This record gives sequence, C-alpha cells and structure tokens, in this order.
Amino acid sequence: MGKSLTHKIIESHLVSGNMIPGEEIFIKVDQTLTHDINAVMTYLAFEAVGIDRVRTECSVSYLDHNLLYVDNKTPDDHIYLQSVAKRYGVHVSRPGNGICHSVHVARFGVPGKISMGGDSHTPHGGSIGMLCIGVGGMDVATAMTGVPMRLTMPKVIKVNLLGVLKPGCNSKDIILEMLRRVSIKGGLGNVYEYVGPGAEALEVSARATIANMGAETGATTSIFPADEQVRKFLISQGREQDYKELLPDSDAEYDGFIEINLSELEPLISCPHQPDNVKRISEVEKRPVQQVFIGSCTNASYSDIAKAALVLKGHQVNENVSCTCAVASKQIYKKLMQDGYIDMLLDAGVRMLEIACGPCCAIGQTPATKGIAVRTTNRNFIGRAGNPTAEIYLVSPESAAATAITGTFATAEEILGIEIGKLAEVKEPKEYKIDDGMLIKPLPEEEALEVTVVRGPNIKPLPVPDAPQNYLCAPISLKGQDNISTDDITPASAEFSSMRSNIPLMSQYCYHRYAPDFAASAKAMGESIIIGGENYGQGSSREHAAINPMYLGVKAVIAKSIARIHKGNLINHGIIPMIFANPADYDGLELEDELEIENLLEQIPTRTITIKNKTRHFQFDVKLEITDNEMEVVLNGGQLTYLKKQL
Ligand code: F3S
Repeated sequence: MGKSLTHKIIESHLVSGNMIPGEEIFIKVDQTLTHDINAVMTYLAFEAVGIDRVRTECSVSYLDHNLLYVDNKTPDDHIYLQSVAKRYGVHVSRPGNGICHSVHVARFGVPGKISMGGDSHTPHGGSIGMLCIGVGGMDVATAMTGVPMRLTMPKVIKVNLLGVLKPGCNSKDIILEMLRRVSIKGGLGNVYEYVGPGAEALEVSARATIANMGAETGATTSIFPADEQVRKFLISQGREQDYKELLPDSDAEYDGFIEINLSELEPLISCPHQPDNVKRISEVEKRPVQQVFIGSCTNASYSDIAKAALVLKGHQVNENVSCTCAVASKQIYKKLMQDGYIDMLLDAGVRMLEIACGPCCAIGQTPATKGIAVRTTNRNFIGRAGNPTAEIYLVSPESAAATAITGTFATAEEILGIEIGKLAEVKEPKEYKIDDGMLIKPLPEEEALEVTVVRGPNIKPLPVPDAPQNYLCAPISLKGQDNISTDDITPASAEFSSMRSNIPLMSQYCYHRYAPDFAASAKAMGESIIIGGENYGQGSSREHAAINPMYLGVKAVIAKSIARIHKGNLINHGIIPMIFANPADYDGLELEDELEIENLLEQIPTRTITIKNKTRHFQFDVKLEITDNEMEVVLNGGQLTYLKKQL
C-alpha cells in the first residue's frame, strides 16, 4: 500500500505512537519559528525550563510584526528577543528583513523536515514539502527543548488540482474555493496534501498562499510535494543542496479526496466576517471601498506584487481609496525595485509600507468607521483590522489592485480587458541576490553562555497557573456565541500587541470589545468558568487568549467545540477545555450561574465530568477530548510545570 507524503514525513520523525488518525503520536521537531508579538512568552517559558541552549536543528526568532516604536514597549520586546536568542542559540531575523513565513521558506526551509511555529500560518512552509504546524508559544518552547512533541495523528486528504488558473485568477482563489467548500471548521484534524497536474504547475509562491491560508479551514497543515518547482525555488535561493525530491507514492492511500478544476475558477472574494463566506466578485454588490491593502504572509510574494503592479500600471488609485502595500521580504522588495514594479506602484499612488505584517494584524492602516477594507490578507474577523465597525473583504492581489482603481470590488479583467494574458507571463525570479545581512547567526555555545538577557520594563514575568483542585465551584464569567476568535479574546492592534509581554496590563483588556466588563467581573469573581459555542478560539495561534483568562482566574472553558490550537493553549496554560456532552445544555446556562464540580481530579481520567448548576438546579455532563499526555499536563496545571518534571 503506497504512502502519502505526509505519512512519509511523519514516519521518519515518529518517536512513539501509532499513525492512526485521531491517535496521539510523538514526533521529533527539526525547526521552530517565533515572531515578535507572540514570542516573549515563549522565550520566558524556555528560560524557565532551565536548559542552556535550544536542542533543535534550527530555531529562528523573527522581528517582523510590530515595527512601530510608538513607546518603550515594542523596543523593549525586540531588545529582549534579540538578547535571549543570542543567549540560547536562536537565529534572529531583524526588523525589516521580512515576514517570518516568507523568510523562513526562503532561507531556512528544507523539504522533508518538520517545523513548529508560534503562528497559525506556519503551514506556509508546506509549499516546499515540509510539514509545518502552527502551535501556541508554550509548544514552541517545548519543541526548543528537544523533547518529542505530541500531535494528534491527522487524516490525510488528497486535494487533486486539475486544469490551469485563468489569468486574473490567483492561487488565493484556490484556497478561497477550498474555504467555500469545506468551511472554517472543515479542515479540523486534517492535513491537505495537494497533488495533480494543477498543483505541479504552481510555483512555490503560489503554493505558499494555499498552504498558508489552509489554516483558515482549521487544518493541522497543508503540504505540496517537493518536486521540480521546489528545486527551482531553492536554486533561486542559492540552496540547491537542500533539495531532495519528496513525492507521495503513486498508489498512496488517503483518508479523503477533494478535486478542484482550476480552469473553472473565477476571481473570488471572502466577505465579512468569516474567511469561508466566499462569493464570486462578479456577484457581490458594488459598494464604495475605503481602503485597499496588498501584502501579508499570504500574498506578498514577488509575483503577487508584480501582478498587482501590472494591473495598476498607467492608472491612479481612486481618490476615495487609501491603497497601501507591504512586500514580504527585503529580498523580494529589492528584486521588485530592480524590475521596475515598485515604480509602477508608486506612480499609481500606492503607499509603500515597511516590510512587515503591519495592517494584517491591525498594526497601522485601521479603516475608518464603518469603512470597507479590501485586503490580500487571510482573516476578516470583526476587529481584525483594528476597527470593529469596519468590514474586511479578502481577495487576490490582482483583484485588490483592480479594486483600488475602481473604488469598488473589481477584477483584474475589468481593468486589463484583452491584455489580461500578460499577468500569466509573470514568473518568480530564477535567481535572487542573496543578502543575509539582517539575519543574526547563533553564537558558539561558550560565547552564548556569557550573554546577558536584557529585560526592559515591558518584560513582566510569565504567570504560571496552579494545578487544579479536587473541588471547583465557580460562576460563569462569560457566555459567548459560536466562532469566538482569539481576536475577540485578545484583540490585534499596535496598542494591544505591545502589551503582550505584560500580562497584568494586557489582561485588563481581555474580551474588551466582545464583553467590556469581562476583565473586571472575572477578577472580582476570583475563579470563574467561560461558556462558548462552536469553534471557540478559532483564528490566530495567540496563546494570550489563554494566558489572559488564566491570569484573571478562569479555570475551565465549556464549549460546543474548541479550535485545535486554542485547545492546546488552554491546556498548556492551566485552563481545562470541556465540551458539552449534549450541546443543548448550552441553552440552559446563564451569566453568573454557579457551577460546581466535585471530585474533579478523579473525574478527569474518565474524560467525562458531571457539573451541577447550583443556580438553576440541574446537572449536565461535559467531555474532555484530550489525549493521555494532555491529561497529564492538565493535572499538572499546565505545560511548564509538566515539562520541568520531564527534563
Ligand atoms: Fe503576519 Fe498577518 Fe501573516 S500578522 S505572519 S502577515 S497572518
């Protein structure tokens, strides 16, 4: 029986467990990555473990998200991150070098390796045949210690791509089509393995868009074979020696099958406020657009920006539109300049931003009140752009450029007409000028031991939860609806991102848009429980969405379902994730109801817990959908305490 590529990579990294979907396995992790707005907690946790140096093949700390130094907080973070990396043997990518996923694939990624990153779009690296998984920061800290990482063995779904994209369509339209079909929950527990003639024809940058935004389906990751396209890409990076062909067997067995004919796709648009709310651009009501942003790890490759520039060439950005562009890396920016594309953008009236994530995570370029923003990014949750009244639409760079010209939703074909074919001629560069001057290599071990870690006033100690007690009686501090995102729990934006190293301060803003009184009331309650609907904690891997509630005394989340990364974060930070055995019990619970659990420690191993609602006098059951290893972590009150006992 033939093997999928995913099976081959997992098998070669398997430390223990059976590769049966849904079973807990332990794998060796080769590489890790972090980025500045999530990383401080990760490195504080790593320091607390007490080993002298990272034990991965390669760990990289990217300073790429928040480059606005509006007060001391972000520079404090960056100086801490740079010094802690030096102390423990971690590479640093300095501010301005590029967005983590793009730089990682270009300069560090190796086909067949496994990487874990403290960012949900880590699967971007699946574009070169790596198995790349987005996890919470505590998991990255754990991976850096070299201990085998737990993973729920995924189902592997074959996605067969047929046909060829029409000019004016982008691989963004492929992943939007996937989202339309499978929804934001459909990928849960899956790896999507892309194969077929349509996949073979896609360049690495186009594959990266798909693998990156596969995160929006909830998938564990997405992957493409390491084939001729990957070899070409690594040659362009001067790294052909890192190439090895990695393909699924021709008779590989899969757990599911999806087929997309690329020739049939039209330019698509994801409408507010969920990425799977996908329509054809041609069928969306034409409304005035206030802002266009071309960039992000999803869509800021050379060919993405070059195609947007070709659409804009000879036109002016509509006078009612603010159009900005952030390129994925310095390397790409320089090549685009050399080839004349940056001039085209500037001539059209596009504002070139720093090389960073920026607007993608609401660091700058907030839309106006009730403004309509069209973006090439990957998420359109309420508030993701920094203004909860705004509407965010997600499209390809070609469609974003056309929209910037017309001032309403538009496709490249509407601008280019019969000249649309020229977009298909844009190819990724055969060769880049390699300049790693903004990458800092790890110091030799002896020298690293001498480094002093610099902690400015924004760096506050990592809060460590207590182990659970046998008796819990606590009120409900929040009752949420379906699809609460980590953005709802801990908002994006420059202001809040820079608080992420300071939990006592940031926790005061926990849920502040969704439930403005939450932080104060949870704190006053001492201990409390959160109730959620379906897909609780979807979106970003931000572990602050677990750390802040934990700091405010939340002991458990009871929801109809919990998103994969967030569930891991809750466990890691001492909050017990519970699932309604009967989802209808959700309806019977109200804010401030007193919930009582007796014999909690004895009930946890049974995976079913009986809860008494003392306010309304009824009883209901919840399930613990956790593995044996996760149970140990829960009983220890979180990963840090557990991990210290392992080492
Ligand atoms: Fe950054 Fe947005 Fe990607 S915040 S890593 S560009 S999802």
